[in-house]
Amino acid sequence: MEGEEAIVLIGFMGAGKTSVGRELARRTLWPLYETDALVEARLDLSISDFFASHGEGEFRNAETEALREMQPRRAIVATGGGTVLRPENVEMLRGLGRVVYLEADEATLIQRLSSETESRRPLLQGSDLAGTLSRLLKEREPLYRTTANFTVDTSALSVAEVAEKILQHVG
Ligand code: S3P
Repeated sequence: MEGEEAIVLIGFMGAGKTSVGRELARRTLWPLYETDALVEARLDLSISDFFASHGEGEFRNAETEALREMQPRRAIVATGGGTVLRPENVEMLRGLGRVVYLEADEATLIQRLSSETESRRPLLQGSDLAGTLSRLLKEREPLYRTTANFTVDTSALSVAEVAEKILQHVG
């Protein structure tokens, strides 16, 4: 891995960005930055509470601000699933380093997400998890693909195996 480049993880909610980010940080001893955690710290509210009181647009503004403060350096960056929605964010992510799309098939995502009660995923609240997931994934999949330098299909892999593949790829 050359220079002061970060490894940037993108992908849908439940793709494993946070878990794989932690594993990569443990193995590389590089610091881990999670955009969701940075946003929550800025706002001093959980993401769900912030969505409820200010709406998604304001959350996206805070997400862009958090990214803007990041410097290209040896670090692991785990993004939120919607970070790629803004072209200016995409440009910043690519400026930080190598961007990895953690892909997972729909059935795997549903399985991972249905067992969770989380304060960070207001977009998945409501009764029709499969329908919402399918719609969002269709919108976002092309953005994940075009933003990433490479893709790892995580559906059948453990967190350690995904981290291993990424490290092999970035050399
Ligand atoms: C979002 C994903 C969440 C969080 C917020 C919005 C999205 O992050 O940023 O709830 O739009 O996909 P995770 O992908 O870490 O769940």
